This record gives sequence, C-alpha cells and structure tokens, in this order.
Amino acid sequence: MIQEVYQRAMKFAGEKHYEQKVPGTNANYLLHIANVAMEVLVAHAAENNFDLEFALQVAILHDTMEDTATTYNELEMNFGTEVADAVSALTKNNSLTTKREKILDSLERINLLGKETGIVKLADRITNLQAPPAHWDNEKRKNYLEEAKLILEKLNGKNEYLERRLKEQINLYQQYIK
Ligand code: NI
Repeated sequence: MIQEVYQRAMKFAGEKHYEQKVPGTNANYLLHIANVAMEVLVAHAAENNFDLEFALQVAILHDTMEDTATTYNELEMNFGTEVADAVSALTKNNSLTTKREKILDSLERINLLGKETGIVKLADRITNLQAPPAHWDNEKRKNYLEEAKLILEKLNGKNEYLERRLKEQINLYQQYIK
C-alpha cells in the first residue's frame, strides 16, 4: 500500500536527516522532504502517467546520500536497486569542480533513468524556489535562478504539470533578483 511505502521511507529519511535544518531556518529538514513528496503527489493527481509509489520513495529519500552518511548499499538493501540508482543520480558528484559541472553531470545521469527521477528533480527545485534565505546575496540568487532554468530545459518532457509549475516559480523568483 502506498501509505505504508510513504511511512517507511519517511521513517528512514527522518532518522537520517534528524539533525539537519532547512537552511536559514529552525525547521527540521523533513519540512523540505515533505514538500517535495507533496509536489509529486499533486503532479500525479494532475497527470497520471508515472509510477507514484516509486517516485514517492525517491522524493522522500532524494537528499539522503548527498546530505547524510547514507550509502548506496544501504538504500539498495532497504528500498531496492532502482530507488538507490535514482537517489544516486540526484546526488552531486563532488569530484567535479564547478557547480555547473556538478548539476550538468547529475542531470545527465537523471536522464538515463525513468521519468520519475526527473520528476523528483523538478519537484525539488519547485520547492526550493520559495523566498531565498536572507543570507544569500544577489549573485547566489541569480545563479540559483539560472540553474533552475537549466533544470527546466534539460528535463523537458518529464511531466507537463511540474514543468508549468517550475516555470511559474522561476517567474516569481525574479522579484528576489536585483
Ligand atoms: Ni532537495
């Protein structure tokens, strides 16, 4: 049952991210995770053409490898190879130097997998394009917006509903750029 799949992944993510905050706030990181999962649920209700159970697990686990000590093997053991591969593609390769290289490399790996992984990336960026943390300067905001446009371009065709939503968020984010 999808409710059980959701709860199992949330329990794992909750334990892994337990001491992590949403940057610039006192909120626990699960706030970000719950918002990404919500975007995936709403997108599936709008456009029922992807595997919700799979996408939901990837959404909930998407930052575990990047932000916590979680390993590929641990994800594979608990959630299967497909989920581990998807989370892996959503994780930056830190042996690359620039931010742009890292995002392009991740998007390339995302595009080798089923559309669900790209859907989670769209949902992640939509969630992250709320008002930026106060400590971000104009340059950082500008780069973040440019990166969002790149994500939209490279993940073209994954899910029309989320692409439209990301476009709207990109337009709204212009107000934070000087
Ligand atoms: Ni994220």
